[in-house]
Amino acid sequence: MPLKSRITGTGSYVPEKVLDNFELEKKVDTSDEWITERTGIKERRIAGPGQNNSDLCLEASKRALQAAGLKPRELDLIIVATMSGDMPMPSTAAVLQHKLGAKNAAAFDINAACSGFLYGLSVADKFIKSGASQKLLLVGAEVNSRFLDWKDRATCVLFGDGAGAVVLEPVKGNRGILSTHLHTDGSLWDFICLPGGGSQHPPSSKTVKDGMHFIKMKGNETFKVAVRTLERLAVDTLKANKVDPSELAMLIPHQANLRIITATASRLNIPMDKVAVNVDKYGNTSSASIPITLDEVVRAGRIKKGDYILLEAFGSGLTWASALIRW
Ligand code: ACO
Repeated sequence: MPLKSRITGTGSYVPEKVLDNFELEKKVDTSDEWITERTGIKERRIAGPGQNNSDLCLEASKRALQAAGLKPRELDLIIVATMSGDMPMPSTAAVLQHKLGAKNAAAFDINAACSGFLYGLSVADKFIKSGASQKLLLVGAEVNSRFLDWKDRATCVLFGDGAGAVVLEPVKGNRGILSTHLHTDGSLWDFICLPGGGSQHPPSSKTVKDGMHFIKMKGNETFKVAVRTLERLAVDTLKANKVDPSELAMLIPHQANLRIITATASRLNIPMDKVAVNVDKYGNTSSASIPITLDEVVRAGRIKKGDYILLEAFGSGLTWASALIRW
């Protein structure tokens, strides 16, 4: 029987500091009513001073390892999906390897913005199925708050900080990751970007003055592509596995906007009680959003052995990705 990769432990961590819409009303020209109606977000978490991406990764990872019953030294690979790592180099995965004491693990980062965790899951799945990895830690983590222009109401109300982690191990049988699907349309790279700080626009007083180190987004254009694309992605993923939408136990979508989530669910005829939603509590935590949501659903006992779970995400690149899991 061929090998499958199975998630054997989940964990998540969000910083203590809560920033609610009413506090944002004091910072920018916005309102709780607008944010709630347009996005479904009520509050988000903000990393404390000195709390870095790798620190969020560490807490989520410890919880996932505990759930899997593994020691850090047993890991052979660590992948961190992030667009807001501790620094451009080395990878946040390398820093996490050190903080965890996972000295037998190779470590690297993946950046596919909000689709990052599912890109990571696809890569992880291939490492496990090929036999190259036996015990793999995959983390999605973001400290988005450090890359927001707190004067730009169109972006600063949307994002939050957090981390989620999963442990993957090989198993024989029908349960595990059934398929993953990755897509990119680089022609739309400028819909969501952070233009400064790379080799194209290295940091300078001009890039700082021009606000090039902040996330920029063409929100409305992105919204339209997201709704269209996510429906097709979900249909294709289910079809590839001959699973009908009615057989799904749970849809775990990327948490960017409640309107995108409900539009996808309704186009697929999936009732909202089968859709995991926490965008109200955390906002858009980019690559952390799916693993945080998965961990909450698992710990709440909302999914059981044998359930079909569909994960899907959309983000900068533009990228979009999905995974179908038999739990
Ligand atoms: N408070 C009050 N008014 C606001 C705010 C705010 N925070 N932000 C924008 N507005 C105003 C705009 O100025 C505009 O005013 P105007 O009509 O006078 O010009 C009006 O509200 C409508 O603006 P839109 O941008 O058209 O609003 P929309 O309904 O599209 O909602 C949003 C904006 C929430 C950003 C939505 O478009 C969205 O969720 N887009 C998708 C985001 C996404 O999925 N991103 C992918 C992942 S992110 C990543 O990969 C990093």
